[in-house]
Amino acid sequence: MAMRMYDLILKKRNGGSLSKEEIEYFVNGYTRGEIPDYQVSALMMAIYFQKMTDEETLDLTLAMADSGDKLDLSEIKGIKADKHSTGGVGDKTSLVLAPMIAALGLKMAKMSGRGLGHTGGTIDKLESFPGFRTALSEDEFIRNVSEVGMAITGQTGNLAPADKKMYALRDVTATVDNISLIASSIMSKKLAAGADVIVLDVKTGSGAFMKEEKDAFRLAEEMVQIGTGAGKKTVAVVSDMDQPLGYAVGNILEVIEAVDTLRGKGPKDLYELCEALGSCILTEAGAASDRMTAEKMLREVISSGAALEKFAEFIRAQGGDDAFVYEPEKLLQVKEIHDVRSEKSGYVFRILSDEIGTASMLLGGGRQTKDSVIDLSVGIVLKKKVGDYVEAGESLAVIYSNSGEKTKEAEERILASISISDTKPPVRPFIKGIVAAHK
Ligand code: URA
Repeated sequence: MAMRMYDLILKKRNGGSLSKEEIEYFVNGYTRGEIPDYQVSALMMAIYFQKMTDEETLDLTLAMADSGDKLDLSEIKGIKADKHSTGGVGDKTSLVLAPMIAALGLKMAKMSGRGLGHTGGTIDKLESFPGFRTALSEDEFIRNVSEVGMAITGQTGNLAPADKKMYALRDVTATVDNISLIASSIMSKKLAAGADVIVLDVKTGSGAFMKEEKDAFRLAEEMVQIGTGAGKKTVAVVSDMDQPLGYAVGNILEVIEAVDTLRGKGPKDLYELCEALGSCILTEAGAASDRMTAEKMLREVISSGAALEKFAEFIRAQGGDDAFVYEPEKLLQVKEIHDVRSEKSGYVFRILSDEIGTASMLLGGGRQTKDSVIDLSVGIVLKKKVGDYVEAGESLAVIYSNSGEKTKEAEERILASISISDTKPPVRPFIKGIVAAHK
């Protein structure tokens, strides 16, 4: 008997589980335009309330991953790794992690987005280098990963079109925030991108998609389970995004901070995160026997300068001017640099990351709409982070701006988002945990 979408909606609405065939039927039918938005919306809402089993979640992910092109990385020798971040403020992790891993002889094959919001995505940040090309053909991408050990490109091909349609639909029908739907959406794109090892950088806190730690862990667990179920080595690191990562927020400012980190002079939290993610990749790939060995290998490519050299090689291979890798400050073009001074003395108790991100966006560093043009030079560099002591009149942050009016607006936001207290806040671990497959 032919399947009917109506029956699938009814079954899920009443708490039943959909079979693999039923899931493939609606995913393929929707991708081809044969099943209308209103029926898929109703099914998404039924899933939102009734949830999905682990098996349904895996089947949905696989069906979405198979709905369009898939990257075939098999001709690249060695282990190919990919990394995904759930997003945060000041997140320049890929710019540091990928060259560290490639300098150790593994392959990083990464597709990145431009992103809406606080700053651009990794692709925008890389475009800070004059000439850098972010739209590689599939052949070029594969060649660069093979020869350089890493490549980062905007999406090539038509990857997971079912997810693209369904995510847009969920966005307007209040059905985004179901953990299984989020996990399958993210993982469908990662599976279609073809790597052998997938490391997930899951953030939690005020600047993260998952504000609550328990939700971040649930998302991490589900994604690891999906990846493992699909035959990929998958591991997640859950880390704190209750304040921006590092000090810099803004595209070129973040490139400068990434280069500092590759020189061994970066912020502690950013390095710690790269070390945790990097160790997961090295151990999952079998390149290191344990975490301590992996951490030592990672430290060595920083101290020897090999990771920085790899970054320069990568910039050159994608057409960028690698002279700026050694002097990234020369990329900055701003009319004014303005200190935001603390109104009182005390300990920095809280920094609302979202608000710092919004201040950077308002300066012109991020997109408010899909078509906004971003100013790569503007942004904010924090001078203090949670737990630091500040004197009245001392600088809390520095604004890099191309408009006096916007500087003022950003300053007000920054001051409102940083709370100063007489008491020192409790020290909280930055890495909240690592989620690996159940053996
Ligand atoms: N990011 C995604 O790619 N998908 C979701 O569903 C949520 C966040």
